[in-house]
Formats: sequence, C-alpha cells, structure tokens
Amino acid sequence: MAKLAINDGPKVIDRQLGKDWPISGDIERENLMEVLESGRWWRGSGDSETSKVGRFEQAFAEFQDAKYGVAITNGTQAIECALKAVGIEPGDEVIVPAATFVASATACILVNAIPIVVDIDPENYQIDPDAAAAAIGERTVGILPVHYGGYPCDMDAVQQIADRHGLWVIEDAAHAHGSLWNGRGCGSIGDIGSFSLQMGKTLTAGEGGICLTNDDDLAAMLYSYHHIGRFEGRPFYEHHIVASNLRMTEWQAAVLLGGLSRLEDQAETRDRNARYLEDGLRQIEGVAPIERDEWVTRWNFYFYHFKFHSEQFGGIPRARFVEALGAEGLGCGSGHLHPIQQNPLFVERNWGPACFGDNEPPDYPSMPTPECERIYEEEGISLNHRLFLGGTEDMDLMLEAIQKVRDNVDELR
Ligand SMILES: Cc1ncc(COP(=O)(O)O)c(C=O)c1O
Repeated sequence: MAKLAINDGPKVIDRQLGKDWPISGDIERENLMEVLESGRWWRGSGDSETSKVGRFEQAFAEFQDAKYGVAITNGTQAIECALKAVGIEPGDEVIVPAATFVASATACILVNAIPIVVDIDPENYQIDPDAAAAAIGERTVGILPVHYGGYPCDMDAVQQIADRHGLWVIEDAAHAHGSLWNGRGCGSIGDIGSFSLQMGKTLTAGEGGICLTNDDDLAAMLYSYHHIGRFEGRPFYEHHIVASNLRMTEWQAAVLLGGLSRLEDQAETRDRNARYLEDGLRQIEGVAPIERDEWVTRWNFYFYHFKFHSEQFGGIPRARFVEALGAEGLGCGSGHLHPIQQNPLFVERNWGPACFGDNEPPDYPSMPTPECERIYEEEGISLNHRLFLGGTEDMDLMLEAIQKVRDNVDELR
C-alpha cells in the first residue's frame, strides 16, 4: 500500500502551519480610525514628523539602525528614488545579482541606468563578491546587492569593492526587514537601503516602500525626489529638482506602525524556528540548509530557502519532490523561475522610453550566471515566512514530511 500522500497514502500535515498573513490588530484599527477622523490623510509638508508617515519613517529607521527614513509608494520606486538620490546618470552601469525579483534591475532601467547582472555564491545564494568585482567597468557607478530571501549578503566584501573603486552601494533590502548583519539592520549599511512593504513582505501595508540612509545629504535628496522636488523647510511651492510624487499615505503608515510593533517578536520567532529546522535538515539525506555565514546574526526571511540535492535524493527531480511535499501538506516554491536577465524584457530588449546616453545595454542572453541558473532549475526550495510563525512542533511536522518523502522516494520513480 502506498505511504506517500501523492499516491493516496495518509498525509503528514493536516492542519495549518504557522499563521495567516498578514496579521493585524487593535493598533491598526485604532490608527486607521484616527486617520479617518483627523482629516489628515497625507503626510503633509512642513510638519511631517507629526504625521503617521513621519512617525513610521523614524521608528523603522531606528529599528533597522539607520538615521533617516523616507517612506515611498512601493519597493520598486524606492530603488528608483535611491538611484536618483545618489546622482545616477544615463548609461551608468549598476551591478545587480541574478537571483532577485526583476525590479532590482528594472528600477535601474527606469532611471536610464544599465544593470549588469552577476552570478551568486552557491553557498548562500547571495551576490558573489568576486563576480561583482570582475564586472566593474569604466561606466560602473554602484553596486546594488540584494539580501535575497532576507539573508544578509556579504556586506564587508561588497563595501570593500565599492570603496576600492569609488562606487556607491544601494542595498535592496526588500526581503530583509529585521534581518541583522553583524548585529546591524540590513539596509543601514550601504549608502542607502531600500525596502518593499508589499503584501507578502514581513512588514506590509499591502503596498509601500521605504529608503533608509545615515547620510544627511542623501536623506535630503531622497526626501526631495519623493516629494516633487521640495526640500524640507522651504516654501511649499518652491521646487528644486524634477521629481515625481512617491509619497506614502497616512493609511499605509497607520497599518505599518501596527506591523512594526510586532516585527521584533516575529523576527525572533522566524529565526529561532529556522535554526531548529536547520538542525533537522542536516539529518536528512539529500537536503541541506544554507549554512549561515558568521555575519548573519538574525535571518528574518521573506522566504526561507534550503537545498535539494537530487543525486542524494534517489535521483528524482526537484519538481517531483516539491509535488510530493505539497501532497504531504507542505507547500514550497523554487524561487524566481530564472536569473533575471532571462526575462523576456531583457532578451527582447524592451526598454520602453529609457535612453542610455552613449552607452547601450549588453547582450543579456550571453551574460551567463550558471550558479543562479542551476539553483533555480534544480536545487533551491523556498518556504513562506508565515510558516515559521508558530512553534517548533510545526518545524517537526515539516521535517517529518521531508523525511517521509526521503524514506519512500522509490514510490516517486
Ligand atoms: C528584491 C526585490 N526588490 C524590489 C521589489 C519591488 O518591490 P515592490 O513590489 O514593492 O515594488 C521586490 C518585490 O517583491 C523585491 O522582491
């Protein structure tokens, strides 16, 4: 008789793991009513520190160990705003990793810059510093590392390369709220850190973004670029630079202040559960955790990833493993499908109205990132962060499901 649920055996997990997402409570309800009744539905201009947006900016910056925060409409525009603040010019080249959401690169194109895509380190799935160094050319102005899945990337190595070549660093921390690099919040290490606050993220208002910086001048430029070219303290109808309206609403900040009040606890819970799961994954043949680098002091992931080794797992393809695990009640994913430069927009060179000065984007299909490709095709498995918000008994169930598939792998051939 079949043992695996995929073959009509009994399933291991027949209850919900973790918690539903998003989570909200009294703080959000009260804040939202307060905004509604106050009649102040936007951040305003001069006295923005009294707005909910201003309070959220300050609180989140403090939480991530940065001096300034500028709240933005979404994570894509947060990167665009950061690129404008550091002074990006048409045709400038920006180094980005292949394993990320496409917005890390398209945000560059949206400001007429050219993303140069580099491979990732197969150990931790983060930007490979050697590949980044090798990709630096005459037109390179900055590095945009991504803390992919919320795992802090090697910021020492990235910063050293940047310093050596006079480049800026914008951290795409869209997945890394609450993650700590050497005890410091991700997004507060480079020149600017950008975050997404979209629905799936570990801090969310449905949509939203924020940029962090420790630099006074960059903070002023971020503010201006998100606020139609205004500068703080100047007359309302005085505009200094060509800039869009990327302001967050008071509604979003009302919700975010609630989420932020829970983020520390949730980050600790996810990290604790993940470490427990890692101990168990090491005991199962054919799967392995990402072994944490010494700088990872807390991993508050948007998605947790671990490794699947087909050759040690009875030779079955990853898709079959994922299917079998899903039947056991553990839904998993496998990342962002392919290295970003394999998206049709790069292959077909659909840049829209972007213009790159005298420089043209490279031939992206001939830009190989073999480790990233292999990991997306064969090795990486991802689990949603919400699954890690319960107790260790949930981790035991996940491990039991994986072990069961391993023990009965013959049924899958
Ligand atoms: C790494 C990364 N950067 C940027 C973004 C863009 O954020 P948003 O969807 O808020 O525009 C995302 C969105 O998921 C992302 O994953």
